[in-house]
Amino acid sequence: MKKLKNKDNTPLACIILAAGQGTRMKSSLPKVLHKIAGSPMIAHVICAAQEAGASQIIPVIAPAMDDVRAVTAPYECAIQKEPLGTGDAVKAARGPLNDFQGHIMVLFGDTPLIKGTSLETLLDRKNATSAAMVVSSFTPDDPASYGRLMINDVGELEGIVEAADATPEQLCIKSCNGGIMLFDSVLLWQLLEQLGNNNAKGEYYLTDCVALARARGQKVVTAELDTQDTSGVNTRIQLAESEKEMQKRLRHAAMEAGVTMQDPDSVFLCPDTKFGRDVVIEPHVVFGPHVTVGDNVTIRAFSHIEGATIDEGAIIGPYARLRPDTHICKNAKVGNFVEVKKATLEEGAKVNHLSYIGDARVGSRSNIGAGTITCNYDGFNKSKTDIGEGVFIGSNSALVAPVKIGDGAFIAAGSTITKDIPAEALALARAPQDNKDGLAKRLRERKESGKK
Ligand code: UD1
Ligand code: MG
Repeated sequence: MKKLKNKDNTPLACIILAAGQGTRMKSSLPKVLHKIAGSPMIAHVICAAQEAGASQIIPVIAPAMDDVRAVTAPYECAIQKEPLGTGDAVKAARGPLNDFQGHIMVLFGDTPLIKGTSLETLLDRKNATSAAMVVSSFTPDDPASYGRLMINDVGELEGIVEAADATPEQLCIKSCNGGIMLFDSVLLWQLLEQLGNNNAKGEYYLTDCVALARARGQKVVTAELDTQDTSGVNTRIQLAESEKEMQKRLRHAAMEAGVTMQDPDSVFLCPDTKFGRDVVIEPHVVFGPHVTVGDNVTIRAFSHIEGATIDEGAIIGPYARLRPDTHICKNAKVGNFVEVKKATLEEGAKVNHLSYIGDARVGSRSNIGAGTITCNYDGFNKSKTDIGEGVFIGSNSALVAPVKIGDGAFIAAGSTITKDIPAEALALARAPQDNKDGLAKRLRERKESGKK
């Protein structure tokens, strides 16, 4: 998270509204928990509020939303008992902010593309104009159900009319309410006391605060933001559109920082994915949360990586899967159809084909043969496999954990290893081969002559 400079040092509190049911998502999950780039939508909004320097962040949720509370921790949520409108939802945050003096910004939990710099635009505008209130404006291609902004001749905002209450002339206004609003704290609580619900939806509209502030002789201005920044997610289609935009931003940032992507559109990133320089990413690679990639790493096609650290010069894939708590050290190699979980591959180690390495250490320069499996789970407990340095493990070996393989040891192909192997020993753990001379020929002749 990049923290922006708070230019006038006035304390900032952010209220994030998330008590709405989100019925158009047709989901049993609260809307703000649907994910964009691996994180719940509300987590992106919290991140923007942190970047803008908020000293207090208060999400407003409905009573049964304990799962949202878990995601917003350590920030304490305020509860809106009934969904009576955006103005009523902001009132729910009054308790924790009663003694707060400064700027209060109201945000929506379903606008995951909002950036800290966009919030800063509202703060700058407030300082530059000495207005008591700033409303984010945007100009969408289709104003649809957004609130319409009534701006006067000197460019100040007189009021907001919700689409459901607008006259046909007002519906022709192109400039719309982006949803984010910035208030002086004292004024906000006074305006909320005056809100009524005499409108088409019978709700307490936060947007009515503008006309109420004007009636008190207060100045209200707008701050224009990019359409994408304020676009809300109400349906699964909009969720996919926001994911697309977020991925575009993340890919651009990665490429700007020195990552080569052969087909950027097929690479999926998380906001916390970290890259060194001269990383090459082939097509169709997915990065889940908490991945760090060092300099000169190549990630080959169709790999899936989460919770892993990959050091300088390593080569991953094609078709590799790295799961959480994996550390691939310098110049190590993970090849096709290899899964690694909670394991460290030390410098120069190689696991090139068709393996599962879980709860394990693979010492430096060790070579794990095709089809080798660490048997880490006995149906009850997970156990560790410890492979020393310079070990050679023959193909199709099963290493039954807990087991320790000493430095420089050699395991014959097809072995099932259940006991520790001392350093420099050769272990052979498979049934001895028995050749019956001429038996194949006799068997064939008997079958061909039709005899039993
Ligand atoms: C709101 C604005 C509209 C603006 C649009 C921008 C109002 C009255 N209208 O309309 O001018 O153009 O956003 O996207 O503010 N919520 C609660 N409790 C409630 C109602 C809503 O917490 O009782 C939360 C919702 O979870 C959501 C946010 O407030 O996060 C906005 O509510 P929503 O119903 O989406 O408002 P819009 O109709 O989109
Ligand atoms: Mg909305």
